[in-house]
Amino acid sequence: MINSPVQAQGDGTAFNPLREGLPSDRITDPCTIVFFGASGDLFKRMLLPAVYSMRLHGTLPTDFALVGFSRTQYDDDGFRNYCKEQLDTFMPDGQKPQGQLWDDFSQRISYITADFKDTRHFQALKGRIESNDKQFGTAGNHIFYLSTPPPVFPEIVKQLHAAGLDPHSNESGWTRLVVEKPFGTDLESARALQRTIERAFPESSVYRIDHYLGKEPVQDIMALRFANTIFEPIWNRNYVQNVQITAAETLGVEERGGYYDHAGALRDMIQNHVTNLLALVAMEPPISSAADDIRSEKYKVLSAISAPPFDEVGAVSARGQYGPGSIDGKPVKGYRQEDDVAPDSNTETFAAVKYEINNWRWAGVPFYLRSGKRLARKVSEIVVTFKAIPHRFYGDGTDAIDANMLVIKIQPDEGIAMRFEAKVPGPKDHIRSVYMDFNYGVGFGVQSPPAYERLIGDAMRGDQTLFTRWDAVERAWEIVTPVLETWQNTKDFTFPNYAAGTQGPSGASALFGDWRQL
Ligand code: BG6
Repeated sequence: MINSPVQAQGDGTAFNPLREGLPSDRITDPCTIVFFGASGDLFKRMLLPAVYSMRLHGTLPTDFALVGFSRTQYDDDGFRNYCKEQLDTFMPDGQKPQGQLWDDFSQRISYITADFKDTRHFQALKGRIESNDKQFGTAGNHIFYLSTPPPVFPEIVKQLHAAGLDPHSNESGWTRLVVEKPFGTDLESARALQRTIERAFPESSVYRIDHYLGKEPVQDIMALRFANTIFEPIWNRNYVQNVQITAAETLGVEERGGYYDHAGALRDMIQNHVTNLLALVAMEPPISSAADDIRSEKYKVLSAISAPPFDEVGAVSARGQYGPGSIDGKPVKGYRQEDDVAPDSNTETFAAVKYEINNWRWAGVPFYLRSGKRLARKVSEIVVTFKAIPHRFYGDGTDAIDANMLVIKIQPDEGIAMRFEAKVPGPKDHIRSVYMDFNYGVGFGVQSPPAYERLIGDAMRGDQTLFTRWDAVERAWEIVTPVLETWQNTKDFTFPNYAAGTQGPSGASALFGDWRQL
């Protein structure tokens, strides 16, 4: 364990030399943010708390307004009360809405009960935004945040265009479009959505959210690789045996059976979050920190992955679906017994794929990606396993000498661990694996800000670095398509093939025998 530099000060606050002298977070431009789908789950759990938290941390501009636009009936006061209830539920203790701060914030909230197909409601939105600009000084800067169910995205974009709410029609400030995932349900639908978007919004105004990119340890992957000299020389086919990327959950589909049964783990996690992690681990150093220099490298490395031929899908992938089992000692039902899931569903709740990157750096190094629900442990991590030693002379041959391993821990632990071999103290030459373990919370003495807070702030600041560019989204769909189509078109008669609370299906270990234990 690396010792914490955090020291208690006389006044009880923590002094941390690692954070001394840092400039405070930049306040964003004045703006109005419109949430489509404001009566939905994501808004109440993640988006609203993120915006309110920015207010608490002083990173929201003073000149700010929030408009909810959704089907559920509310008037402005009703929606303000709804927001307060949600913040009371989802903000941590000590950060609940109260006093002057909440009063001021709530006055800036308004709501439009809307039918997404009705042009008049978009005209009403336009009127509301213009009056916000005057009343709250939001300077003609507007963010439209799509957090409705994805089938509605194209309609909203068309309506914004028709109502003159697109960036080209805005002469006084900027207009940005934030698009929640999933961006399409397959390659074709993603392309269709993109065509609709680009008629009204240039790429420079589109922010495709992948909340994994807002997680602190994910942002740190670039710092680990490019702010140090010791890792890059060995970050290639000469030293790396394989890379495994895991995003495992203990949760089931909860109330989202209706969505998930048409999605599955490949669409829901692998095509976006997990592929984006791969891009960060495998990309070449960008020539600068400009958003497009970084995003070009991510696209470039994804371009070097070829989609597997259809007849090889079985050899490079594994799928699973959970049956009944137990999580934390409590029995849980199987996927097919969940609400809104077909009783004979063929949808995978576990997906694993093997990708090869055909470039100079990575040729021959397999990248294994896996994600699943109702697994033994919630953990997201990237494991880089290095090659074995070329020759052993230690011990009597009974001690295993494990390969070195670098573990980038994304959640729930946030940190970096290095596994290396060490001699057990004593007269014999016994060898054991030990870890050097860095933990962000201990090291920097702060809790990482929630991903959405960072990402919404970046959209307000106009920084696209942590948002996925269209070419990379398209490429991620292209790579996954053969597996997606094969799974869709062939029923897996072994489903359910893993019990809830376990390591996943046996096919995953057949694909790769060295997954880290969950
Ligand atoms: C979402 C998926 O994008 O990510 C969910 O739609 C999944 O199915 C979630 O549960 C996982 O996010 P996190 O941050 O909890 O790993």
